[in-house]
Amino acid sequence: EGPKPLAGKRVVVTAGPTHEPIDPVRYIANRSSGKQGFALAAALVKAGAEVTLIAGPVALADPVGARVVRVVTACEMLAAVEATLPVDVAVMAAAVADWRVDAAAAEKIKKGPGGTPTLAFVENPDILATVGRHPALRPQLVVGFAAETENLIANARGKLERKGADVIVANDVSPKTGIMGGDRNTVRIVEASGVTDWPDLPKDEVAAQLVAMIVEKLG
Ligand code: C5P
Repeated sequence: EGPKPLAGKRVVVTAGPTHEPIDPVRYIANRSSGKQGFALAAALVKAGAEVTLIAGPVALADPVGARVVRVVTACEMLAAVEATLPVDVAVMAAAVADWRVDAAAAEKIKKGPGGTPTLAFVENPDILATVGRHPALRPQLVVGFAAETENLIANARGKLERKGADVIVANDVSPKTGIMGGDRNTVRIVEASGVTDWPDLPKDEVAAQLVAMIVEKLG
Protein backbone atom coordinates (compact mmCIF):
# COMPACT_ATOMS: atom_id res chain seq x y z
CA GLU A 1 0.00 0.00 0.00
CA GLY A 2 2.73 2.46 0.90
CA PRO A 3 2.73 5.77 2.75
CA LYS A 4 -0.19 8.20 2.30
CA PRO A 5 1.41 11.64 2.66
CA LEU A 6 -1.55 13.31 0.89
CA ALA A 7 -4.30 11.72 3.01
CA GLY A 8 -7.12 14.23 3.48
CA LYS A 9 -5.87 16.51 0.68
CA ARG A 10 -8.26 17.43 -2.11
CA VAL A 11 -6.64 17.69 -5.55
CA VAL A 12 -8.07 18.58 -8.95
CA VAL A 13 -6.18 17.49 -12.08
CA THR A 14 -6.96 18.41 -15.67
CA ALA A 15 -5.72 16.23 -18.52
CA GLY A 16 -6.00 15.65 -22.24
CA PRO A 17 -6.95 17.97 -25.06
CA THR A 18 -10.22 19.78 -25.51
CA HIS A 19 -12.32 19.51 -28.66
CA GLU A 20 -13.92 22.67 -29.98
CA PRO A 21 -16.80 22.09 -32.41
CA ILE A 22 -16.90 23.54 -35.92
CA ASP A 23 -20.22 21.88 -36.73
CA PRO A 24 -21.97 18.75 -35.40
CA VAL A 25 -19.42 16.41 -37.03
CA ARG A 26 -16.14 18.37 -37.01
CA TYR A 27 -13.89 19.82 -34.35
CA ILE A 28 -10.54 21.47 -33.64
CA ALA A 29 -8.18 19.61 -31.32
CA ASN A 30 -4.51 19.06 -30.52
CA ARG A 31 -2.15 16.09 -30.10
CA SER A 32 -2.34 15.73 -26.31
CA SER A 33 -2.78 12.06 -25.28
CA GLY A 34 -3.62 12.80 -21.63
CA LYS A 35 -1.00 10.27 -20.48
CA GLN A 36 0.95 12.62 -18.19
CA GLY A 37 -2.18 13.97 -16.50
CA PHE A 38 -3.69 10.50 -16.01
CA ALA A 39 -0.36 9.25 -14.61
CA LEU A 40 -0.39 12.17 -12.19
CA ALA A 41 -3.94 11.46 -11.05
CA ALA A 42 -2.98 7.83 -10.40
CA ALA A 43 0.15 8.84 -8.47
CA LEU A 44 -1.85 11.33 -6.38
CA VAL A 45 -4.41 8.62 -5.51
CA LYS A 46 -1.55 6.31 -4.52
CA ALA A 47 -0.28 9.04 -2.18
CA GLY A 48 -3.69 9.13 -0.47
CA ALA A 49 -5.16 12.28 -2.04
CA GLU A 50 -8.85 12.70 -2.83
CA VAL A 51 -8.50 13.23 -6.59
CA THR A 52 -10.93 14.64 -9.13
CA LEU A 53 -9.63 14.21 -12.68
CA ILE A 54 -11.25 16.45 -15.28
CA ALA A 55 -10.46 14.78 -18.58
CA GLY A 56 -10.89 15.96 -22.14
CA PRO A 57 -11.52 13.39 -24.90
CA VAL A 58 -8.80 10.72 -24.56
CA ALA A 59 -8.60 6.96 -25.05
CA LEU A 60 -7.51 6.19 -21.48
CA ALA A 61 -9.30 4.28 -18.72
CA ASP A 62 -10.30 5.96 -15.46
CA PRO A 63 -7.46 5.80 -12.92
CA VAL A 64 -8.64 3.54 -10.10
CA GLY A 65 -9.66 5.52 -7.03
CA ALA A 66 -10.07 8.90 -8.76
CA ARG A 67 -13.37 10.66 -9.40
CA VAL A 68 -13.33 11.23 -13.16
CA VAL A 69 -15.37 13.88 -14.96
CA ARG A 70 -15.24 13.60 -18.76
CA VAL A 71 -15.66 16.84 -20.70
CA VAL A 72 -15.27 17.91 -24.32
CA THR A 73 -14.75 21.67 -24.60
CA ALA A 74 -12.63 24.21 -22.71
CA CYS A 75 -15.77 25.91 -21.37
CA GLU A 76 -17.02 22.58 -20.00
CA MET A 77 -13.58 21.90 -18.49
CA LEU A 78 -13.59 25.28 -16.72
CA ALA A 79 -17.06 24.69 -15.26
CA ALA A 80 -16.07 21.20 -14.06
CA VAL A 81 -12.90 22.54 -12.41
CA GLU A 82 -14.74 25.42 -10.72
CA ALA A 83 -17.26 22.92 -9.34
CA THR A 84 -14.44 21.13 -7.46
CA LEU A 85 -13.31 24.23 -5.55
CA PRO A 86 -12.18 24.54 -2.81
CA VAL A 87 -9.24 22.15 -3.22
CA ASP A 88 -5.79 22.07 -1.62
CA VAL A 89 -3.91 21.51 -4.87
CA ALA A 90 -4.66 22.13 -8.56
CA VAL A 91 -2.58 20.47 -11.26
CA MET A 92 -3.55 21.74 -14.70
CA ALA A 93 -2.02 19.34 -17.21
CA ALA A 94 -4.66 19.65 -19.93
CA ALA A 95 -3.75 21.00 -23.35
CA VAL A 96 -6.73 23.34 -23.50
CA ALA A 97 -7.57 24.78 -26.91
CA ASP A 98 -6.69 28.46 -26.86
CA TRP A 99 -9.53 29.34 -29.19
CA ARG A 100 -12.97 28.04 -30.08
CA VAL A 101 -15.02 28.63 -33.20
CA ASP A 102 -17.12 31.68 -32.51
CA ALA A 103 -20.45 30.30 -33.69
CA ALA A 104 -20.31 26.57 -34.38
CA ALA A 105 -22.72 25.66 -37.19
CA ALA A 106 -25.92 23.91 -36.11
CA GLU A 107 -25.88 21.70 -39.21
CA LYS A 108 -23.02 20.06 -41.09
CA ILE A 109 -21.26 22.59 -43.30
CA LYS A 110 -21.58 21.46 -46.94
CA LYS A 111 -19.14 21.98 -49.74
CA GLY A 112 -20.49 23.57 -52.85
CA PRO A 113 -20.23 26.38 -55.36
CA GLY A 114 -20.33 29.00 -52.56
CA GLY A 115 -16.60 28.45 -51.91
CA THR A 116 -14.65 27.42 -48.80
CA PRO A 117 -15.80 28.27 -45.28
CA THR A 118 -14.01 30.84 -43.13
CA LEU A 119 -13.84 30.20 -39.38
CA ALA A 120 -13.90 33.04 -36.86
CA PHE A 121 -12.40 32.26 -33.44
CA VAL A 122 -12.88 33.59 -29.93
CA GLU A 123 -10.46 33.06 -27.07
CA ASN A 124 -11.26 30.33 -24.56
CA PRO A 125 -11.21 31.01 -20.82
CA ASP A 126 -7.87 30.23 -19.18
CA ILE A 127 -8.58 27.58 -16.57
CA LEU A 128 -5.17 27.71 -14.90
CA ALA A 129 -5.33 31.51 -14.61
CA THR A 130 -8.87 31.37 -13.26
CA VAL A 131 -7.73 29.01 -10.49
CA GLY A 132 -4.31 30.61 -9.92
CA ARG A 133 -5.76 34.09 -9.62
CA HIS A 134 -8.98 33.10 -7.87
CA PRO A 135 -9.97 35.92 -5.48
CA ALA A 136 -11.49 33.66 -2.82
CA LEU A 137 -10.71 30.00 -3.48
CA ARG A 138 -7.12 29.89 -4.74
CA PRO A 139 -5.67 26.47 -3.81
CA GLN A 140 -2.62 26.37 -1.55
CA LEU A 141 -0.56 25.00 -4.45
CA VAL A 142 -1.18 25.62 -8.16
CA VAL A 143 0.84 23.67 -10.74
CA GLY A 144 0.64 24.34 -14.47
CA PHE A 145 2.30 22.87 -17.52
CA ALA A 146 3.89 24.54 -20.51
CA ALA A 147 4.24 22.61 -23.72
CA GLU A 148 6.30 24.61 -26.18
CA THR A 149 8.26 24.10 -29.35
CA GLU A 150 10.53 27.13 -28.74
CA ASN A 151 11.57 29.63 -26.03
CA LEU A 152 10.57 27.09 -23.37
CA ILE A 153 11.87 28.78 -20.23
CA ALA A 154 10.95 32.34 -21.17
CA ASN A 155 7.42 31.21 -22.01
CA ALA A 156 7.14 29.17 -18.80
CA ARG A 157 8.27 32.12 -16.66
CA GLY A 158 5.65 34.30 -18.36
CA LYS A 159 2.94 31.74 -17.55
CA LEU A 160 4.05 31.47 -13.92
CA GLU A 161 3.49 35.20 -13.54
CA ARG A 162 0.41 35.73 -15.74
CA LYS A 163 -1.53 32.69 -14.54
CA GLY A 164 -0.61 32.91 -10.87
CA ALA A 165 0.96 29.43 -10.73
CA ASP A 166 3.50 28.33 -8.10
CA VAL A 167 5.21 25.87 -10.45
CA ILE A 168 5.24 25.39 -14.21
CA VAL A 169 6.27 21.98 -15.51
CA ALA A 170 7.79 22.87 -18.86
CA ASN A 171 8.42 20.46 -21.70
CA ASP A 172 9.62 20.71 -25.26
CA VAL A 173 6.98 19.12 -27.48
CA SER A 174 8.76 19.53 -30.81
CA PRO A 175 7.80 16.49 -32.94
CA LYS A 176 11.41 15.21 -32.81
CA THR A 177 11.12 14.68 -29.02
CA GLY A 178 8.27 12.14 -29.32
CA ILE A 179 6.85 13.47 -26.04
CA MET A 180 3.34 14.14 -27.33
CA GLY A 181 1.62 10.76 -27.36
CA GLY A 182 4.77 9.01 -26.10
CA ASP A 183 5.44 7.30 -22.76
CA ARG A 184 8.44 9.36 -21.68
CA ASN A 185 8.89 12.99 -20.77
CA THR A 186 11.77 15.39 -20.17
CA VAL A 187 10.62 18.26 -17.98
CA ARG A 188 12.07 21.42 -16.53
CA ILE A 189 10.57 22.65 -13.26
CA VAL A 190 10.14 26.42 -13.42
CA GLU A 191 9.50 28.38 -10.22
CA ALA A 192 10.00 32.02 -9.19
CA SER A 193 13.20 30.85 -7.45
CA GLY A 194 14.72 29.18 -10.51
CA VAL A 195 14.70 26.26 -12.94
CA THR A 196 15.42 22.59 -12.14
CA ASP A 197 16.05 20.17 -15.02
CA TRP A 198 14.87 16.60 -14.59
CA PRO A 199 16.28 13.74 -16.67
CA ASP A 200 14.33 11.95 -19.39
CA LEU A 201 11.90 9.67 -17.47
CA PRO A 202 8.82 7.52 -18.06
CA LYS A 203 5.66 9.62 -17.58
CA ASP A 204 4.76 7.44 -14.55
CA GLU A 205 8.09 8.36 -12.95
CA VAL A 206 7.64 12.07 -13.75
CA ALA A 207 4.24 11.76 -12.04
CA ALA A 208 5.75 10.09 -8.95
CA GLN A 209 8.41 12.78 -8.67
CA LEU A 210 5.86 15.56 -9.12
CA VAL A 211 3.83 14.04 -6.27
CA ALA A 212 6.96 14.03 -4.09
CA MET A 213 7.47 17.69 -4.99
CA ILE A 214 3.83 18.48 -4.12
CA VAL A 215 4.15 16.73 -0.75
CA GLU A 216 7.29 18.72 0.02
CA LYS A 217 5.72 22.05 -0.99
CA LEU A 218 2.57 21.47 1.07
CA GLY A 219 4.90 21.05 4.07
O1 C5P B 1 -0.69 29.29 -22.30
P1 C5P B 1 -0.58 27.80 -22.37
O2 C5P B 1 -1.77 27.14 -22.94
O3 C5P B 1 0.69 27.30 -22.99
O4 C5P B 1 -0.47 27.40 -20.83
C1 C5P B 1 -0.37 26.08 -20.45
C2 C5P B 1 -0.92 25.90 -19.06
O5 C5P B 1 -2.13 26.61 -18.89
C3 C5P B 1 -1.28 24.45 -18.78
O6 C5P B 1 -1.15 24.21 -17.40
C4 C5P B 1 -2.73 24.38 -19.24
O7 C5P B 1 -3.41 23.32 -18.63
C5 C5P B 1 -3.24 25.72 -18.79
N1 C5P B 1 -4.32 26.28 -19.60
C6 C5P B 1 -5.60 26.34 -19.08
N2 C5P B 1 -6.61 26.91 -19.82
C7 C5P B 1 -6.36 27.42 -21.04
C8 C5P B 1 -5.07 27.36 -21.58
C9 C5P B 1 -4.08 26.78 -20.84
O8 C5P B 1 -5.81 25.86 -17.96
N3 C5P B 1 -7.35 27.96 -21.72
